[in-house]
Amino acid sequence: MGGGETMSDRMNESLIAAARDAAKTAYAPYSDYSVGAALRFADGAIVTGTNVENASYGLSLCAETLAVAKALAEGRRGGLEAVAVVGPADKGDGAPITPCGRCRQVLNEIAQLGATDPAILCVGAHEVLELRLSALLPHGFGPAHLD
Ligand code: THU
Repeated sequence: MGGGETMSDRMNESLIAAARDAAKTAYAPYSDYSVGAALRFADGAIVTGTNVENASYGLSLCAETLAVAKALAEGRRGGLEAVAVVGPADKGDGAPITPCGRCRQVLNEIAQLGATDPAILCVGAHEVLELRLSALLPHGFGPAHLD
């Protein structure tokens, strides 16, 4: 761990690498905009997702949504600590990619189940914008409201 890099920096870098790797198998033939997402849990597990598009365009799923669905289907019900989202390097102006509104709500489901406020690492060409989910989705509605 040289150069002043902390354990948390290293964990974030490997989460971003997992998201970047996941993006390689994105199914995005219509937008040609491949996205990878990676979720890190308190036990150290990483669950990834990619966007999965559909010929009926509006049915397409985002990478973050797929990652959350996979995690829930694996039986995870909380412990979400961090999320990395990576888009294509050759599109847009290089600004960090931020989860869409629907994905913020989907992320909030698993976050609120485990009462965590995960860090969202939005990867850009020259910077990683790190925001708490609560900053992206203030006052989010979730499972706690239904208790
Ligand atoms: N997309 C994601 O997978 N995650 C985001 O955070 C933003 C957008 C996908 C949806 C669609 O397949 C493509 O990117 C272009 O919008």
